[in-house]
Amino acid sequence: MKTTKKYWIALAIVAATGFVGCGKQSSTSKGDRTANALATYVAPGEKDEYYLFYSGGHSGQVFVAGLPSLRHISTIPVFAPYPGTGYGFDEASKKMLGDFTWGDMHHPALSQTDSKYDGRWLFVNDVANNRIARIDLRDFKTHQILGPIPNSMGNHGSSFVTENTEYILCATRFSVPLPKGRVADPKDYEKEFNGMVSGIKVDPQTGEMKVGWQILTPPFDWDLGSTGKGPSSGWAFWTNYNTAMAHDVLEANATQKDRDLCAIVNWRAAAQAVADGKAQMMDGVPIIDPAKVPGILYFVPIGKSPHGFDVDPTGKWVVAGGKLQPATTVLNFEKVQAAINNKTFEGNFRGVPILKYEAVVEGEVPVGLGPLHTQYDGKGFAYTSMFIDSCIVKWKLPPWSDEEKKDLNKVVLDKVQTHFATGHLVVAGSDTKNPYGKWLVALNKLSAGRHIDVGPAEPESSQLIDISGDKMKMVAEAYTEPEPHFAQILKVSEIQPAEVYPKDENKDPNAVWDKAQTGVTRNGNQVVAKLTAIRSRFTPDRIDAQVGDTLTIYLTNIEQTRDMIHGFGIVENNINITVDPGETKTMKLKLTKTGVFPFYCTNFCSALHQEMQGYLVVWKTGEGPANPAPAGATAQR
Ligand code: CUA
Repeated sequence: MKTTKKYWIALAIVAATGFVGCGKQSSTSKGDRTANALATYVAPGEKDEYYLFYSGGHSGQVFVAGLPSLRHISTIPVFAPYPGTGYGFDEASKKMLGDFTWGDMHHPALSQTDSKYDGRWLFVNDVANNRIARIDLRDFKTHQILGPIPNSMGNHGSSFVTENTEYILCATRFSVPLPKGRVADPKDYEKEFNGMVSGIKVDPQTGEMKVGWQILTPPFDWDLGSTGKGPSSGWAFWTNYNTAMAHDVLEANATQKDRDLCAIVNWRAAAQAVADGKAQMMDGVPIIDPAKVPGILYFVPIGKSPHGFDVDPTGKWVVAGGKLQPATTVLNFEKVQAAINNKTFEGNFRGVPILKYEAVVEGEVPVGLGPLHTQYDGKGFAYTSMFIDSCIVKWKLPPWSDEEKKDLNKVVLDKVQTHFATGHLVVAGSDTKNPYGKWLVALNKLSAGRHIDVGPAEPESSQLIDISGDKMKMVAEAYTEPEPHFAQILKVSEIQPAEVYPKDENKDPNAVWDKAQTGVTRNGNQVVAKLTAIRSRFTPDRIDAQVGDTLTIYLTNIEQTRDMIHGFGIVENNINITVDPGETKTMKLKLTKTGVFPFYCTNFCSALHQEMQGYLVVWKTGEGPANPAPAGATAQR
């Protein structure tokens, strides 16, 4: 389908005004108000039915909300320090964050078993620093950050989980000279730069991630992807918006072609090729050159600068959002498979076969302007977010009747206005074989003053749409911190988060549980303090040390009661951690100034929370009661 003149006029309007759509007034008719309120009202004492896990974009965090209330319930810090939970202040989380204090989180993915959510982990990617993190849904905390991933720049086309969480698949947004560290002039982009698809191996028991293998690609800008299931089991798909391989003024130079070459990857064959020794090592990672190892990578042309690629719950239909083409393109994976087997190619690019467009495409559905992402309800319907038209379009997946095929306008069934410029959207379980629930959440890029004013920058908006009937119905909206990209929805009944960390599961060798084990010891200039926290005291509540010492504090919360959390802040020492019941945390400080520094519980824990305090006494070097205490001895009081 050619881009129409009307389309470009609309684009110009969007560029000039920021959005199109239906203005700032309420979109809810009077008669609907009560019904909508009742549909989303979660009364005091009642609970939501679903979790909504929003990616927090460049805040580096995951926001947890309830559905249908859209109420924010919790924030999970991942790529940025968060004093609210002490994340990034204790040694374990500081080590995970490494040298970075931010990340750009985009696409959360729940772990799957047999193409269904298994409620174990949530994986999130960091575009900026080429990382992947794993959140454990047992305690809603970040347990691993992997990266920066070698040979990979701009980890945007990520994180896509395979059918049994064998791999998390990622593709690069940016291309650079590889391996990283090598320098070439961007003018030599086509020759010197490369992109990469990475397979991150996930341990089936522990969830521990490691870089498995990589597939070298031309310097295209890979965009969003999706993994296969059913007939497309073992395959993965990425769109691309820079087949032109432009390296400057991409706005104009990357958008010249009517169709861009998107990637179809046989990840199972890639893993096998590496096992068979068909890879070369680069920066410690086995790399497959798809021109030398056939059967791993295919290209398919898709119009135009497509954005999302989403596999439907049956695994047969693979839908690309056209972004700059007012249509979604529906690939039939059975035809893809046949085209591969019969070599129905329209040439190759750098030795990688290009599948013949007409042989694999089922149809282009004229959904409207700016289609980005598609989600599915498992009942044969697709829902596409429209960035420019600011709406969600519901349409019917194939198989289509002959009459529908003649005019695919007939499969476009419903549109609901959103406010404004919807990016991602999410339907519960859309990326599994069993979507569930009646809700769709539109994640909008602009809120355009639909909320109380908060200054020049406005929050992002989310809108809740009931998709249980023939017609979609917008029922509620809410706002979030920057900046949700994608989200995942999980039934609350699918998981059973921990209430405390049981004492016998605490394997920290420095955990202490009673007064006799606590104390402060010195070895040279290394001072170690082992403390317990319980309502409403720290034991000991005095630590003596000296300038020049390195002080390590191990703090164990010996409570076994849910939500009995204690904090530990040291005044003027930039330390604030929290410890959950049964947890031990480690803090390390290099002492550089004398003084008496109060420490206190920062997390309200009881009526005597205010009394939960103590002193860090930092003496001049060579002075104070702890000096010279023999190694292993408890400091005098
Ligand atoms: Cu312990 Cu406040």
